[in-house]
Amino acid sequence: MTLEIKDLLHKLDALLVAHFYQRDEVVALAHLCGDSLELSRKASQSPKNLIVFCGVAFMGQSVKVLAPQKRVIMPKMACCSMARMIDSEYFDRSIATLESYGIPKEDIFPITYINSNADVKAKVAKMGGLVCTSANAKKIFDYAKSKQKKIFFLPDKCLGQNLAIADGKTSCIIGNASKEEVLGSDVICYDGFCSVHQLFSVSDVEFYRQKYPDIQIVVHPECDPSVVSIADFVGSTSQIISYVQSLPLEQKVAVGTEFNLVNRLRPKLNGINTTFVLSASKPECPTMNETTLQDVLDCLRAYEDNMPINEVFLDDDTQHWAKIALDRMLELS
Ligand code: 13P
Ligand code: SF4
Repeated sequence: MTLEIKDLLHKLDALLVAHFYQRDEVVALAHLCGDSLELSRKASQSPKNLIVFCGVAFMGQSVKVLAPQKRVIMPKMACCSMARMIDSEYFDRSIATLESYGIPKEDIFPITYINSNADVKAKVAKMGGLVCTSANAKKIFDYAKSKQKKIFFLPDKCLGQNLAIADGKTSCIIGNASKEEVLGSDVICYDGFCSVHQLFSVSDVEFYRQKYPDIQIVVHPECDPSVVSIADFVGSTSQIISYVQSLPLEQKVAVGTEFNLVNRLRPKLNGINTTFVLSASKPECPTMNETTLQDVLDCLRAYEDNMPINEVFLDDDTQHWAKIALDRMLELS
């Protein structure tokens, strides 16, 4: 199967792209592997016209938004559960709630995490806002602060709260907070979250620290603020990889992110494992794990037969405005 996939990729002059959370066998075949920021940038700038994207839907969409002339197909049209927690209607309703509290629309600066669909990115751009990823969130947050408006951060409440805490700003969650709390907060977060990163808890950190007092705790910023605030290192998937791989192999590390990535991080030391998943349960992103080599092959065969499956298409308005939101981010990062 692997040989046939390679042959078809060559014949179709296609770029096979995989997020770090994909299964090992998919990552092993990919021409390009990375975090959300790297993948959207590098895949859209690639000279190849056909992008075969193994990841979740918003990632394939981001490539199409940035490079509309390319054909983007996805072996599985898998959805990030966090991205599905908001759509353009929920976005409008949130803005209407803030307006009903007396905050004029012009005084709201929206930032959407890249884990959102293109229609939401388009809405954010129309209000003057932009996208961030976990890799550039601090830079984008600093830019947003310079606008001296209320920041509306969506959809990930954890990333929004973590940015606010790190900067000494007040934050609240729309829907949970009272009108007074909303009015008194610098950052208003939408009530979305990642079900995978919710699995990591303070008791997991305590468990590992008790077992190995010199262990380092490394987490993704989609984790709950209670966990992020006691971690030794917080970063995007590529930042986690660079950081952990820069540590001596004797240094024990417990990592709070998706298990496929964690399991590939480091070899054992003389047969002894020094890299742990920071959870008693398996932190598996079910939709990222849906894509198999058979799906990649089926998708390539269908494309070759002129019957493409799971091709990414966007309407012109969404395409235009979502690109503005992503371009604003890329200019700053
Ligand atoms: P990265 O941008 O760090 O790759 O994160 C994407 C993601 O979905 C994490 O859950
Ligand atoms: Fe979405 Fe969470 Fe999966 Fe990342 S790990 S793709 S945020 S559901």
